[in-house]
Amino acid sequence: MCGIVGAIGERNVTGILITGLKRLEYRGYDSAGLAVVAEGLLHRVRRAGKVAGLEMAADEAATQGTLGIAHTRWATHGKPTETNAHPHMSGDDLAVVHNGIIENYQSLREQLIADGYRFTSETDTEVIVHLLHQALAAGRDLLQAVSEVVPKLHGAYALGVVSADEPDRLIAVRSGSPLVVGLGIGENYIASDQLALLPVTTRFIFLQEGDVAEVRRDGVQIIDAKGVAVERKVHEFDGTHEDVEKGEYRHFMLKEIFEQPAALQRTLEGRINGPESLAHLLGERTELLQRVRNVQIIACGTSYHAGMVARYWLEDLAGVSCQVEVASEFRYRQHVVPENTLLVTISQSGETADTLAALRGATSAHYIGRLAVCNVDSSSLVRESEMALLTRAGPEIGVASTKAFTTQLAALLLLVLATARAHGVRDELLADILTDMRQLPSLTEQALRLDGAIHELSKDFVEKHHTLFLGRGTQYPVAMEGALKLKEISYIHAEAYPAGELKHGPLALVDKDMPVVAVAPNDELLEKLKSNLQEVRARGGELYLFADHHAELSDADGFTVLTMPKVPEYLAPIIYTIPLQLLSYHVAVMRGTDVDQPRNLAKSVTVE
Ligand code: F6R
Repeated sequence: MCGIVGAIGERNVTGILITGLKRLEYRGYDSAGLAVVAEGLLHRVRRAGKVAGLEMAADEAATQGTLGIAHTRWATHGKPTETNAHPHMSGDDLAVVHNGIIENYQSLREQLIADGYRFTSETDTEVIVHLLHQALAAGRDLLQAVSEVVPKLHGAYALGVVSADEPDRLIAVRSGSPLVVGLGIGENYIASDQLALLPVTTRFIFLQEGDVAEVRRDGVQIIDAKGVAVERKVHEFDGTHEDVEKGEYRHFMLKEIFEQPAALQRTLEGRINGPESLAHLLGERTELLQRVRNVQIIACGTSYHAGMVARYWLEDLAGVSCQVEVASEFRYRQHVVPENTLLVTISQSGETADTLAALRGATSAHYIGRLAVCNVDSSSLVRESEMALLTRAGPEIGVASTKAFTTQLAALLLLVLATARAHGVRDELLADILTDMRQLPSLTEQALRLDGAIHELSKDFVEKHHTLFLGRGTQYPVAMEGALKLKEISYIHAEAYPAGELKHGPLALVDKDMPVVAVAPNDELLEKLKSNLQEVRARGGELYLFADHHAELSDADGFTVLTMPKVPEYLAPIIYTIPLQLLSYHVAVMRGTDVDQPRNLAKSVTVE
């Protein structure tokens, strides 16, 4: 999704802007641009395509300035062309970068055209800069103009604004899209994600909804949604810089797949010291779990799949009913909310527009609490929920979610165990599962050792156009996650089915050109799954199975079997995800796709 970087200092800030944009590349984008102010003039450079192209163009033009804004654009209104790229300008002096969507841009545009403004792009953003121009022409200063224009804009957005006439301030607005202010020494910055600014600062202020910030070289003033000057807390970034470097790995995705043992270790840290530790999982609020009679989970994409697994666990282990729904559907329909329902949102980024909107819309008095299971402590989702369970995966840069998913599963299993305990489930059973959970990092390492074998296997998929993924029980969402990973990074069409549904339709698709991947841990559904696999075999389908020795499935049965470590039942969804991640990674690399930034996708989906 779009990225914003801005800086104001005594030195040339072009390098800070370009470096910041490069660090936001993982979010997904299709054009980039920047505008800097030097000696009373505004210089703008934009390019369709990658930031590297923008950097070359900025170098060639020797673009320099001590105040500037920059942007990576993920096209929503209008094609990914140079003329649609940000910053957008009105006249020669005023420039704006914008994340999000202005829903009423059409009527504003018509009014501005009637007022004599000429539009040079198809974007919704351009209305903002002309509205600001109009307010400045009426005698406002830059801050007054922004404060006057913001109430006219409907939608969710974040803005960065500079004017060559006011070289000593950079104005930033947060209204529905995330924006942070970075604090330096004699210079300050803005960005849509703190990762963009880590080379220059580790001190951040997270703007809140409706905040307008006036960022100067020597200080920052924030005005809240009511127009009152406020002080916001300064946060120190607590990660390491290495987390956001690729290191020895060819792609962030591969690095993040291999980081999973350490990430899971962090998720579990201090949370699995026997059943008593479950009583503190949500701090003082853990007691509330005793009153929970129903759980509503809301999420998107991969996080939704984690929620689907949690539903099996919750009903099985805690005996609490649970519904799971994708946020984009949930937010637009009426629901019957049973009394004493706990609302659980799941999100890696904590900034996904649909998930946030669903949270904000979940106002029924029957919700007794709203819990965010999230990877980013400073995110909107965490800040707007009463409770948070942090997954501690560390920054995830690859667009395809990997370590975020497995750590979500581990955190959700802890939540389920805490709920089960609050509902009187025996400590002995919970203690056994917690003991098993200690093995998670080492079992993950064992699964990662299959990398070489999966690399070999991947060759069979490279030329295919479709793939079917099968699973039963908790492995059905795992199959869905495997299919999502394959389609998003290799562009091979992939579908997941609960294996029992095969004969109700999809079996018609099975032939030698349709590889079928099945996740088959040795659980109570294994025998049933075996029958489903025979149905595939009988139709000439190529079957690839991930199963342990005890499943007694072998290549001799006409399948290609990859032998997994023996895994305790409740950990199987976490461990069986690993080979599916590796499979999609290797297939994508062999097909030569852009693994970390697949086409048309964005890491943090901050628009509807
Ligand atoms: C797929 C993927 C997406 C995200 C989805 C939700 O690999 O990453 O499907 O899971 O966009 O994002 P979060 O979890 O940040 O809310």
